[in-house]
Amino acid sequence: MKILVTGATGYIGRRLKERLLGKADCRLRLLVRNRNKVRPSVRDRVEIVEGDTFTEEPLDRALAGIEVAYYLIHSMGSGKDYRDLDRLSAENFREAAIRAGVKRIIYLGGLGVRETASKHLLSRIETGEVLSAKAERIQTIWFRAGVIIGSGSASFEIIRNLVQKLPVMVTPKWVNTLTQPIAVDDVISYLAAAADKEIPGNQTVDIGSAPMSFREMILEAAAVMNLKRLMIPVPVLSPRLSSYWLILLTPINYQLAAALVEGLKSETVVLNDHARRYFPEIAPVSYRQAVRQAMGELEDNQVLSRWCDSSGGAVCDIKDRDDPASAVLRDSREYPLGEATPTEVFSAACTLGGEHGWFRYHFLWQFRGLVDKLMGGYGLNRGRRVRDELRVGDSLDFWKVADLRENKRLLLLAQMKVPGKAWLEFDIQPDKLIQTAHFLPNGLWGRLYWYSVAPLHHLVFSNLARQIVLQARRNR
Ligand SMILES: NC(=O)c1ccc[n+]([C@@H]2O[C@H](COP(=O)([O-])OP(=O)(O)OC[C@H]3O[C@@H](n4cnc5c(N)ncnc54)[C@H](OP(=O)(O)O)[C@@H]3O)[C@@H](O)[C@H]2O)c1
Repeated sequence: MKILVTGATGYIGRRLKERLLGKADCRLRLLVRNRNKVRPSVRDRVEIVEGDTFTEEPLDRALAGIEVAYYLIHSMGSGKDYRDLDRLSAENFREAAIRAGVKRIIYLGGLGVRETASKHLLSRIETGEVLSAKAERIQTIWFRAGVIIGSGSASFEIIRNLVQKLPVMVTPKWVNTLTQPIAVDDVISYLAAAADKEIPGNQTVDIGSAPMSFREMILEAAAVMNLKRLMIPVPVLSPRLSSYWLILLTPINYQLAAALVEGLKSETVVLNDHARRYFPEIAPVSYRQAVRQAMGELEDNQVLSRWCDSSGGAVCDIKDRDDPASAVLRDSREYPLGEATPTEVFSAACTLGGEHGWFRYHFLWQFRGLVDKLMGGYGLNRGRRVRDELRVGDSLDFWKVADLRENKRLLLLAQMKVPGKAWLEFDIQPDKLIQTAHFLPNGLWGRLYWYSVAPLHHLVFSNLARQIVLQARRNR
């Protein structure tokens, strides 16, 4: 069977791709906006078409000869008009799939009904409706999931951070809203099984484990983590205030926090029995088990994908922004490798950030992270996916990995709030490490920013290259 996975660099798509790679009888093609985001070992095992759903030619190429196409795309981070983009994207995809003679589209949207839907959910519903609109020409299996629990999922990261950081929580009344969470592995099982199941016509398939409130979810997660937590409900805690709390305490940014809080106000429960009818062999694990599994993956450094892997926007975040040659201001440092090899220095550079920190002046990075958080950015809270491996597209504190050339180069693109574009590059030569901070300022304010932080840059950058090389020598 020839299968196309779109959104293969996103949270769900990355995991689905891994699962399908294990299926003997399927040939996999990926539609991605930046092929470098697919790790080199996978690139050899799949066909890759670079493009997006807004451009006809690559879309046609991606769908040619395909029998089953997964649609795992959204434009939520694109600004106010994301609903229009989502509709257009789905329409383009459906029409291209019909032209290519695709038999089945498989889509994952959200649980919930139009009447009480948040703007984000409404867009997911509209996407499903657009994809399913020509049942006589193409079949659509539309899965609907509520809160997805898995290592690196936004919902799980929020719950984990709240539980670990707050012994007492003052909670708004929406914590009593009912939902049916589901483990990410179960979501992937449903999606993977849907490729070759006999299912008649268009279907919506609601998936989830037992119904529970967010309050119960937080308390059960605390129990799994062996923590006792007290929740004090208050009648007045506005969605805006709740969102501020979330951005301060969890890794997510304001836009995502606001969308999630809005979504939590209405029930997201299973409304049909199609999961049991068409997929009787799949029995979703309990919420508790899902939390245990997610915690286990975190502890074992086995996080396959994270909510911040994708760009969330109308264009790929690193595709057209990975060339620091356009920068006009630079801070460059060199340090000799001495007895360390380029391979050892590359490995040491690839462990920067997250729990490992940024060496001697880590407190200055933390301060910058706090400023970024207060300005609505990510701060340092995103950390890193796993301790000792990076791939293109990984978030690393307030950076994103924009380029990675084995034993030669690590390029980080700044995603912190800065008046311009900034990169941090580690260029590993046979005898030295060249570390360069590149900056393309936005007008006068950008230049003022660069010169005003120069003393801090001097402290952190003059020491960083040296510390990476020393670390490489220590790791020998
Ligand atoms: N994650 C959850 O908790 C959850 C819960 C319920 C339902 N769902 C549903 O599951 C689906 C997938 O969500 P997700 O969390 O995996 O999203 P995600 O992590 O944000 O990934 C989105 C993917 O879509 C790609 N993409 C975006 N716009 C594109 C376009 N126009 N053309 C081609 N590719 C494009 C992104 O590529 P780049 O890497 O280039 O940005 C990325 O690979 C969505 O429909 C969502 O509503 C998710």
